[in-house]
Amino acid sequence: MARRKALITGAAGGMGRACARLLGTTQDLVLTDAAAPALERFAEELRAEGYTVLGAHAGDLGSDAVLTAITADIAGNEPLTLIHTAGLSPSLAGAAPIMAVNLIATVKLLDAIEPLLRPGSAAVLIASSAGHLIPEIPAALALLAAPLAPDFLEKIGQIITGMSQGDAAKEGGISYSLSKQAVLKLVQTRALVWGPLGARITSISPGMILTPMGRKEAATPGGAAMQNAAPLGRPGVAADIALAAQYLASDAASFITGTDLLVDGGSVAAFRQGAARIG
Ligand SMILES: NC(=O)c1ccc[n+]([C@@H]2O[C@H](COP(=O)([O-])OP(=O)(O)OC[C@H]3O[C@@H](n4cnc5c(N)ncnc54)[C@H](O)[C@@H]3O)[C@@H](O)[C@H]2O)c1
Repeated sequence: MARRKALITGAAGGMGRACARLLGTTQDLVLTDAAAPALERFAEELRAEGYTVLGAHAGDLGSDAVLTAITADIAGNEPLTLIHTAGLSPSLAGAAPIMAVNLIATVKLLDAIEPLLRPGSAAVLIASSAGHLIPEIPAALALLAAPLAPDFLEKIGQIITGMSQGDAAKEGGISYSLSKQAVLKLVQTRALVWGPLGARITSISPGMILTPMGRKEAATPGGAAMQNAAPLGRPGVAADIALAAQYLASDAASFITGTDLLVDGGSVAAFRQGAARIG
């Protein structure tokens, strides 16, 4: 019997690896990541351990080449699982690449897989608790709803510059938070389109998770504040996210769509209750 296929983006990263190992126990894997040697090594490691890796495609997720390669691998009559973890944070990149990967590439990915959705398909996008904590600004929200517009990066860049009040060091963080706020909205709007197709889409908003990205962020004041805010008193591990993703992608979550799950040790609750302050 044909098994479900699970497409994991950011598969060479911390959460991507944990998701591939967990979902790969019952599903055939299609992996993609920008980090070519790391992705190739990970795919070989998984195959040697007995996992089925149908394809491992290295490159920029927003590129036509990668989208064409992964859609060729996932096409079929089985329901599809997507776990989308690829992303950039302020410790890794500037405002424009963050927006390009976290939002523009995400929309391109969803557009590319939409014609391949079969009833029972489920997508889980990794957003961020940062997307919950930034205020909603109507002018930014209107732009963020149409990130494939040709002048999107220029116009959102102007809003980010305005919000940073001349402090260029803040631009990456603002871009990151806005890009993740947009992912939370994207899940709501796509759920309306995907529901009639029998497909679901949700997101997870992690707090501080000690992946390669998370360790870099934890060393910044904002990241440390996020980590210290968690009432559970520990940073998360990648498996915390993989287990939540496994649940949301499973039939056990068959009535859940268009919504987000905070997996943050309670950090956002602590900020909202005034029990913690953003760094
Ligand atoms: N780690 C945390 O504390 C934390 C907290 C909140 C949200 N997140 C989000 O979780 C997701 C996964 O993060 P992680 O902690 O596993 O980070 P990570 O850096 O370990 O993994 C991210 C992966 O994405 C890949 N990637 C980056 N740009 C890409 C591109 N253009 N095309 C293809 N692949 C690309 C990287 O090569 C990397 O392997 C990200 O979206 C991140 O924003 C992380």
